[in-house]
Amino acid sequence: MWKVQALVVHILLMGSVLSTYFQPTILPNLEPQKTMRDLGFKPPADRLVVFLTDGLRAATFLARNGSDVPDLRDIFRKQGRIGISRTCAPTKTRPGHIAIFGGFYEDPTAALVNFRYNPSNFDTVFNRSRNTIGWAHRNVVKIFIRLPHGGAPMRFKSYMEAELPEKLTCDKWTFEKVQKFFKKGANVREFRNLKSVVFFVYLGDMDIAAHRFKPLSKRFHKKLQYTQRGIQTTYELFERVFNDSRTAYLMTSDHGTTNEGSHGGGSTHEVETPLFMWGAGVTREVVDSEA
Ligand SMILES: *[C@@H]1O[C@H](CO)[C@@H](O)[C@H](O)[C@H]1NC(C)=O
Ligand SMILES: *[C@@H]1O[C@H](CO)[C@@H](O)[C@H](O)[C@H]1NC(C)=O
Ligand SMILES: *[C@@H]1O[C@H](CO)[C@@H](O)[C@H](O)[C@H]1NC(C)=O
Ligand SMILES: [Zn+2]
Repeated sequence: MWKVQALVVHILLMGSVLSTYFQPTILPNLEPQKTMRDLGFKPPADRLVVFLTDGLRAATFLARNGSDVPDLRDIFRKQGRIGISRTCAPTKTRPGHIAIFGGFYEDPTAALVNFRYNPSNFDTVFNRSRNTIGWAHRNVVKIFIRLPHGGAPMRFKSYMEAELPEKLTCDKWTFEKVQKFFKKGANVREFRNLKSVVFFVYLGDMDIAAHRFKPLSKRFHKKLQYTQRGIQTTYELFERVFNDSRTAYLMTSDHGTTNEGSHGGGSTHEVETPLFMWGAGVTREVVDSEA
């Protein structure tokens, strides 16, 4: 009998810990802020392109003064700003994406119970922009596609790795889909006329390559070359299609990776991700806040 009592006490103790610390982090009844357009100002950009390199850590991006990402370094030589963004544990794909696009650390109960599905509704920049189009892994798309959108559904093209002809060709798939999309004159015309667009370019290979080869290996490095080159050519494609200096670019990751190619914990390599911004509205000059 005492065993049952001990078990009950333990369950109660566990429950009290969970209910004390694992509270939902979403604040109810928040009023959306007015946008610059609502206030009568011209925003610095009409569209944002997000390159999300899944699992690429800041240490890899910044290694040897950027020599491992030479094409991105070439962009940075001329423009943009670089920093390190910090995510938090659990360093997984879903909480990382929700932090970037929803702007909050996910409800830890949800993270604890299920890594793939968030039971609560939350607003995102995708939804706020009212015009989102993306190319991503289906598991990533699932995080956002079911959220209420109030009449502006996000447009995602998605894949599963099993559907790709070769292993580690997720990024190839994405780059080619973006190219194909802009080959259609109707798509170009439609998007040239839209304001406040978010293009979500999800790149999944870095995460898979890190798991498989580990981030310090030659094979990982080779994959990184392909991906960073693809980002540069896709950037150039956007600049050709929207030749109006009204596009802002962001390159970042949802989480990092340890030297062993794992993630989930709170170590520096897992938490620190690259943050590279360039294009419209990103100035290089340091503004003197005292002036
Ligand atoms: C990186 O660049 C800085 C400034 O140009 C230089 O002082 C430093 O030695 C470089 N580091 C490496 C590892 O190349
Ligand atoms: C998305 O935006 C619409 C319109 O602003 C809003 O009605 C809807 O509640 C938003 N979705 C979420 C999940 O907040
Ligand atoms: C953008 O258009 C200008 C002329 O309006 C042209 O000189 C320039 O090469 C174009 N840039 C790109 C990237 O196509
Ligand atoms: Zn991930």
